[in-house]
Amino acid sequence: MDKLVRANRVAWEQASTFHIEQHDELLEEARSSWQLFPREEELLAPLLANQPRVVHFQSGHGLDDIALVKAGAQSVVGVDYSANAAGAAQRRAVELGKPCRYVVAEVPGVPVKDASADLVYTGKGALIWMRDINAWAQDVARVLRPGGHLFVYEAHPAVPLWTWDEDEPRIRPDRSYFAESHINDTFPANGAREWQWNLGHIVTAITAAGLRLKTLEEYAEPFWRPGDGTNAAAWSGRLPNSYALLAELPSD
Ligand SMILES: C[S@@+](CC[C@H](N)C(=O)[O-])C[C@H]1O[C@@H](n2cnc3c(N)ncnc32)[C@H](O)[C@@H]1O
Repeated sequence: MDKLVRANRVAWEQASTFHIEQHDELLEEARSSWQLFPREEELLAPLLANQPRVVHFQSGHGLDDIALVKAGAQSVVGVDYSANAAGAAQRRAVELGKPCRYVVAEVPGVPVKDASADLVYTGKGALIWMRDINAWAQDVARVLRPGGHLFVYEAHPAVPLWTWDEDEPRIRPDRSYFAESHINDTFPANGAREWQWNLGHIVTAITAAGLRLKTLEEYAEPFWRPGDGTNAAAWSGRLPNSYALLAELPSD
């Protein structure tokens, strides 16, 4: 494993202890209130109608896996290099009786069979941890069956530029849209290195791996807001904060 990726993994293992500490709350959320975003549900509805076998790259707390199963997925394999995250997600799935299985492994290099997934689902703070976006896209293409789909719902690559000032949006003087990486200074995994794949990098990697882009939408609303009530002006509707991407591995 790359030295920087290994250091990030240590940070994530530490950050992911909250999945264990908050087991009861997360279990209750998974059982009763957790949902995919409305636009995610709309974009995924035609795929979930066919009861796909899902592989979730960087599955984290796994609440989205329970939501995917409730929405129609036949099964989910979650892959995450944090044993704390994968273990806690597995315990929740077992307690809820949902067909989700978790594997502790690095992405890319996902230990599932070639062409075994109908849908690769990922995002919500995932792609920034990829050291090599082309290797990631090739791994997606490898695990998808012909005709299978990749779905990403992710922070917009411009997000690292925005300050959290509440009076008006500002651009951080220490950040560049075109930087290779920066150090995370918020939550979680504070101190870890994030790689800045912009939309050009991501779309080029996906199409170079053989997938066909079907949908790319940018949104003003961030996929995540801090729980302390911070309401940055950069999140008020004028700037991009998240995006969704759907791509298909052609069957011909
Ligand atoms: C911000 S969380 C988001 C995950 C998930 N989408 C969610 O909403 O919970 C990022 C996750 O990626 C995992 N991760 C980061 N880099 C990884 C890598 N190279 N291989 C596998 N897992 C990774 C971390 O352990 C963490 O659980």
